[in-house]
Amino acid sequence: MDVIVADDRAALDAARGELGGGRLALVPTMGALHEGHRSLIRLAREHADHVVVSIFVNPLQFAPNEDFSRYPRTFDADLDACAAEGVSVVFAPAAEDMYLPDRQVTISAGTMGAIVEGAFRPGHFDGVLTVVNKLFNLVRPDVAAFGRKDAQQLAVIRRMVLDLNLPIEILGGETVREPDGLALSSRNRYLSAGDRVAALTLSRALREGAARRNAADIRRAALAVLEGAAHADPPLALDYLALVDPLTFAEVPDDHAGPAVLAVAARVGDTRLIDNIDDIVVGTVVGAGGSGVA
Ligand code: PAJ
Repeated sequence: MDVIVADDRAALDAARGELGGGRLALVPTMGALHEGHRSLIRLAREHADHVVVSIFVNPLQFAPNEDFSRYPRTFDADLDACAAEGVSVVFAPAAEDMYLPDRQVTISAGTMGAIVEGAFRPGHFDGVLTVVNKLFNLVRPDVAAFGRKDAQQLAVIRRMVLDLNLPIEILGGETVREPDGLALSSRNRYLSAGDRVAALTLSRALREGAARRNAADIRRAALAVLEGAAHADPPLALDYLALVDPLTFAEVPDDHAGPAVLAVAARVGDTRLIDNIDDIVVGTVVGAGGSGVA
């Protein structure tokens, strides 16, 4: 069956009717689809009869100084990708259809939205939650898939589902990477060959950190790699490296034992990149002075 393209709410409702029931999955995206998005679509398909992919570059989650206007828009290729992955409906509304000019009410991500990534992008997670909540209400999916690449986004969405009792199951899809470790991102297309070398430092630093056993060593090992890259050409400008609790995204103490996410954000030229390793289990230090490599 061909993909149904719904470009407004009425068309979406009609498309839902055409599907005629069954479990519905939603994969929200901003388009410029790559293998990371496609893997989420495949994950969603495993959990539902039909997959709806939304393509909407959400103005609410971009600050005025950010890259909203130059965010890549590749609709025809996106549609081909969706067709190839067996998507039933692509919902691609215009901004006017999503937001009333006099809108008042938005969703706040609370403290979780103001720390780590949120400290560098004030209001970003509020914008994400507001649009995701609207997409949930419009599409009414049983299940929705999000990438672990955006670990804090996934965490605040899970928190919204919990705090607001949303009847939607949330799936977290693994980060898809290039063979050399670079996490796929719609923004990677802006990287020159030189930038790309600098960008690779992110995943390398995370791996160096994740190979250590205790929190202080994890941070130190990752930072050493990132600091080396700060003086390279082109330089990597670090926004943060954070070792955080997977549920709250609060920094874990140096004597932490248990699960943690090692998250990083940095800029190469005009391109801002984020990455993380989210399945770290920080161990306790064994023996005097022991900070052994795991
Ligand atoms: P976007 O950046 O288009 O990402 C859409 C989904 O793809 C997100 O859940 C993101 O985590 C996931 N994704 C991106 N790169 C990935 C990779 N390399 N591997 C696996 N998954 C990856 O994230 C957004 O859009 C927006 O904030 C959105 C949730 C659509 C709200 O506007």
